[in-house]
Amino acid sequence: MKYAHIVGWGKGVPQRVMTNNDLRALVDTSDEWIRERTGIGSRHVAGEGESTCTLATDAAMRALEVAGISPSQIDLIIVATATPDYAFPSTASLVQDALGADRAGAYDLSAACSGFVYALSMGTDVIRAGSANTVLVIGAETLSRVVNWKDRNTCVLFGDGAGAVVLSGSDQPGGVLSSILRSDGSGGDLLIIPGGGSAQPTTADTLERNDHTIRMNGREVYKFATRVMDRTVRELLHKVGWTVEQIDLFVPHQANIRIIESAAKSLGLPMEKVFTNLEHYGNTSAASIPIAIAEAAEQGRLRPNDKVVMIGFGAGLTWAAAAVTWGQPKLVSRSQRTAQRLRYNVTSVRSRLLRSLRRIEGKVFGGRSED
Ligand code: COA
Repeated sequence: MKYAHIVGWGKGVPQRVMTNNDLRALVDTSDEWIRERTGIGSRHVAGEGESTCTLATDAAMRALEVAGISPSQIDLIIVATATPDYAFPSTASLVQDALGADRAGAYDLSAACSGFVYALSMGTDVIRAGSANTVLVIGAETLSRVVNWKDRNTCVLFGDGAGAVVLSGSDQPGGVLSSILRSDGSGGDLLIIPGGGSAQPTTADTLERNDHTIRMNGREVYKFATRVMDRTVRELLHKVGWTVEQIDLFVPHQANIRIIESAAKSLGLPMEKVFTNLEHYGNTSAASIPIAIAEAAEQGRLRPNDKVVMIGFGAGLTWAAAAVTWGQPKLVSRSQRTAQRLRYNVTSVRSRLLRSLRRIEGKVFGGRSED
């Protein structure tokens, strides 16, 4: 049986940063309230020309560069997202085209903020089953496009961004060892975008009611998150035979610092072993864990053979956790890295991507196609 190792990682976030003080121009709020209740100080917000696909592609490019893998080596691309560019085609197919990953299958996965861990688990399973050897797993969101900017209960919480990892099959034991995927659909109404789907297609009335934006019962979601985190992590640790003390790095979904601190406390995990970056990104849903992983790796907080536990939770309701032995990425020489960078530089990807998007928009809306 093959093991699925994480051999590359990267993030892609919009340039534009919106601070808590910037939000004061939109809703009745304050930096103090947002920091105290959530731990968030600022978030990145997509600008013109940016979408879930462009952010995902940026993150993927960086992950491939770290892994020293070219797009044509990818067998499968999974994009976990709740904010795809379109209902169809999938964002994963757009990313596949933008990367020039000409041998890859591609699909989107919808499990809201738990999506990345779900996708990591799916990618691992196809490698274990022998159906693929190199899988690009991405969590990407542009939540700013589905937030009601007049609702202070929600608009202060979310941000845009993407994170990606490359999973590679190896005979060497380790990598993604085990995962737990769960759902409780009876809580679906606690965090929902009610309009725009087949249950309630977009009409002038749904737009008037802002049904195409996020509705959330914050208190109930808070209670659910704190309830599932402790018990799911313990169940996962039992599955892989680790103790809480053996965890080297805990990477939770970055929704709220109080939820994270409460989980760490009930697990008996010191905060030094908990990775947080929500102060700078807010809640980026499916992107939050892979962005955190990329930053942890960049900051040298992940060493080969470290025991890493990730846990996501969110709409569905869904929650998911994974235990990972941190991989040893292939050693890529400086010159290989430079060549890689030149071959697949982000600028050329962006321009290909924009061409593809224009082509699709031309076909969908009957405008002139460029090609
Ligand atoms: N600025 C200022 N005041 C705000 C505010 C804001 N951005 N948002 C809400 N308030 C107000 C409320 O209107 C309320 O006022 P009231 O008492 O006059 O009615 C007051 O602050 C307290 O609201 P409450 O909802 O009790 O606050 P809270 O301590 O529960 O914190 C959340 C609210 C949303 C931060 C918290 O419930 C939470 O983080 N929930 C989990 C959300 C989450 O993680 N969702 C994503 C899951 S993937």
